[in-house]
Amino acid sequence: MEIKAISGNLVELPIEAIVVNLFEGVKTPGGATGAVDQALGGVISGLIERGEIKGKLGEVSLLHTLGRIPPERVVVVGLGQRERFNLDRVRQATASALRFLRKLGVKRAASILHGAGAGGIDRQLSAQAIAEGGLLGLYAFKKHKTVDPEPGELEELLLVERDESRLPEMNEGIRLGRVLAEAANFARDLVNEPANALTPTKMAEAATELAEKYELELEVLEREKMEELGMGALLGVAQGSQQPPKFIILSYRGDRGSRDVLGLVGKGITFDSGGISIKPSEGMGEMKGDMAGGAAVLATLKALGELKPRINVTGLVPATENMPSGTALRPGDILKAMNGKTIEVVSTDAEGRLILADALCYARRLGLSPVIDVATLTGACHVALGDVCSGAFGNDQGLIAQLMELGEEMGERLWQLPLYEEYKEQNKSEVADIKNSGGRWGGAITAAQFLAEFIEDTPWVHLDIAGTAFLEKERGYFSKGATGIPVRTLVKFALALAKAKQS
Ligand code: BES
Ligand code: MN
Ligand code: ZN
Repeated sequence: MEIKAISGNLVELPIEAIVVNLFEGVKTPGGATGAVDQALGGVISGLIERGEIKGKLGEVSLLHTLGRIPPERVVVVGLGQRERFNLDRVRQATASALRFLRKLGVKRAASILHGAGAGGIDRQLSAQAIAEGGLLGLYAFKKHKTVDPEPGELEELLLVERDESRLPEMNEGIRLGRVLAEAANFARDLVNEPANALTPTKMAEAATELAEKYELELEVLEREKMEELGMGALLGVAQGSQQPPKFIILSYRGDRGSRDVLGLVGKGITFDSGGISIKPSEGMGEMKGDMAGGAAVLATLKALGELKPRINVTGLVPATENMPSGTALRPGDILKAMNGKTIEVVSTDAEGRLILADALCYARRLGLSPVIDVATLTGACHVALGDVCSGAFGNDQGLIAQLMELGEEMGERLWQLPLYEEYKEQNKSEVADIKNSGGRWGGAITAAQFLAEFIEDTPWVHLDIAGTAFLEKERGYFSKGATGIPVRTLVKFALALAKAKQS
């Protein structure tokens, strides 16, 4: 979908549809909605009066104009309560309106800048949120459909503003919103892709394409190199699979004058069968998405390659399958990670922390700081927090607080869980330095405690996205399936870091 800012009067545009809005509880609409209402002889206020239009968040109402004004249709989208209005609600309302238009088969539409008038939101931010919400909301994974059941795509959205001098800031917002949404959608594509199409090799190829397109630096470590480096934990997980593991290192260098490099580490299990500790077959197909953390890291670098902020970022993605076979890792096996620590494998299904152990050691070897890891790590995190927020853990409270704030702003909420010392007991092994499962209770926490042993004193945040990476049903601008969480938060974090450095 193309999105452009134009100057003009919404009510006079000869176009298939225009989108206006309404706060909940408003009886006589003002602004552009008011102008449309007047031009149509009070039909909108009439429908409000009769209770047919309420203005609830995401509510859509369709009016046919029957030639009374140049636009053929008017869609009134609800913004919800004025007191609770924010940018995320602009994203949600936009997604709702645009999905509705697509269902009608509309190809070209125009919209007002939600919130820029009565909502008190900056024009650039409103335009950004509209672009973001629209492109995220219209996302669908149709690559493997040979017949498309939808009537077609919405091709163009115009954001209409009276004052021509405002167009540059709006176009800047649209650009940023597009980069963020397309990065998230890129991650969603990788996550939705089945494991037979997205092997570790294919994931490395996707990274290669990004490197070429956005001038990123890329290195892919093969099994031999992993052996040389002593990545015994990652190799242990990979040994059961026919697919060769890949350790992807993708870097964006936007600040050659600085040696500081932000590290992003993403779990890249392209399929998690559980290994010998095999998972129940029901729902196992969802484990094609167990590389969502890795996908988010690659997608973040894609966005940075487009936005080119002054900062250095290196993404690490240990990629492998977790499969049962005659060569597979067994419960009881002991592995040695890159930092020399030995790990007793209690469950081969706790494979994410094994591959991340070596990746975090490698991040330390490279001197990356701070380090943020992203992983669909534990079912326990899904149980604890549901699918509304991801779990956040770490050894740097300032960093956690900053990410939580950005997550809230971006509609990718994070909630902190504790790393109290006492939980560490559960990870103690009788035969090795540590074991890879601390049992059922506090499972998200003991998994994070395990990771902490490998990142040591490097400032670090761990995001457990097991509950949020993949939705069972649509919510707001997240369609069913992959969400692309937390790509937009990570990009914003890198941008904020770049900005903080310059001042
Ligand atoms: N990939 C899973 C976690 C997961 C579960 C992600 C559901 C998304 C949805 C992870 O590798 C796993 O299997 N974790 C185990 C750990 C346990 C064996 C200690 C779990 O959570 O059951
Ligand atoms: Mn597992
Ligand atoms: Zn897993």
